[in-house]
Amino acid sequence: MDWRSKLLHAAPAPVGFESLAPATYRGSTTVLPDLPATANATWRQPYSYGLYGTPTVLDLAQRIADLCGGSHTFIVPSGQAAIALVSLALLRPGNHVLLPENIYGTSADLAQQYLIPMGVEADFYDAMQPLAAHIRGNTRLIWFEAPGSITMETPDLRAQMAEVQSANAVRSEKIVTAIDDTYSSGVLLRPFDLDIDIAVQALTKYIGGHSDLLLGSVTIGAKNDAIYEALGNTHRILGLNASPDDASLALRGLQTLAVRLEALEKSTLQIAKWCANHPAIETVLHPAFPTCSGHESFKTLFTGSASIFSFVLKREFLEAGLSREAAASEVANAKVAEVISRLKLFKLGYSWGGTTSVVMAYPDTPRIQQKYGPGLIRLGIGLEDPADLIADLAQALS
Ligand SMILES: Cc1ncc(COP(=O)(O)O)c(C=O)c1O
Repeated sequence: MDWRSKLLHAAPAPVGFESLAPATYRGSTTVLPDLPATANATWRQPYSYGLYGTPTVLDLAQRIADLCGGSHTFIVPSGQAAIALVSLALLRPGNHVLLPENIYGTSADLAQQYLIPMGVEADFYDAMQPLAAHIRGNTRLIWFEAPGSITMETPDLRAQMAEVQSANAVRSEKIVTAIDDTYSSGVLLRPFDLDIDIAVQALTKYIGGHSDLLLGSVTIGAKNDAIYEALGNTHRILGLNASPDDASLALRGLQTLAVRLEALEKSTLQIAKWCANHPAIETVLHPAFPTCSGHESFKTLFTGSASIFSFVLKREFLEAGLSREAAASEVANAKVAEVISRLKLFKLGYSWGGTTSVVMAYPDTPRIQQKYGPGLIRLGIGLEDPADLIADLAQALS
């Protein structure tokens, strides 16, 4: 061969090597053995086309399914892609979907800005109230999230699933239930023990664990051919390929998940406790604390807590030194901005679950039960020494 051809057709590397690290297989073209093999080249037969999975991505999928106790997992490029895959696979014009009002914001945007204009009916429910009154004849999909985003309420999933099951008992097309299980990383909560059909995760958070990748997973609980077919075909049509390099980082993240979760829980509880005693803080929204709505459900559903919680600054603190007019206006938000700008170890950013602590303000987050006002701040705790994080918060609030 000419040297140019040799560049492309080198002899295979010697075999017989074993590593502790899972290999990273990249590839868009999956080489087929012969022409008859093209007859089986479907997404159900992954090694037929790059989009249907490389060994690295499918290894991650299998491990997530095993970890969560599910029957099958699809890996997608982000947590939001996982949410979108479920809704787009299952919903058609005329169907009705229910979402908790405290669901992850972009999930709500998908319903409002995409599903509704496409002819799907969508309603937001109060996650802390019974569900039955919201269920309609055309309800096809019900979303849960536990704890909810930002305000951290834990719904009574057992009672809500009992309501869904009694609705399902008298209908031919069953309502499918799906949960955003990112908080629990598939281990602190067991959604499939509650008979929830699908659990999605932003692997971006605890599975990746180092703020250096975006990935999502969609896991089916009990084997269900209709759901499997709908998800698999939609995954194919939307082209939701995940990078093997990101999957390889997530596989590495899985190896340290247990120790990270344990350390993060301990630090986060310590910091949340300190916040609960701070004179500028009105309330701490951490599901392991009785001050957090749904704490009783949290205790019975979860085996541990994670690294994210919120707190609300007192009105007097926000308005100190301001005239009455200024206090009543947007100016009260300036105090939140000042606190955040003084923080040194907490970085201002949305995505949590990594090794570095993050902070974000959520002024005027709308909730049916409660108005939190301008002083709502969320912390994502990292692996820094908790004493340093507390000192950082203390100087910022001083
Ligand atoms: C609860 C929850 N679900 C899903 C997502 C989306 O994850 P990703 O950033 O990977 O799209 C996030 C991101 O913040 C989240 O907090």
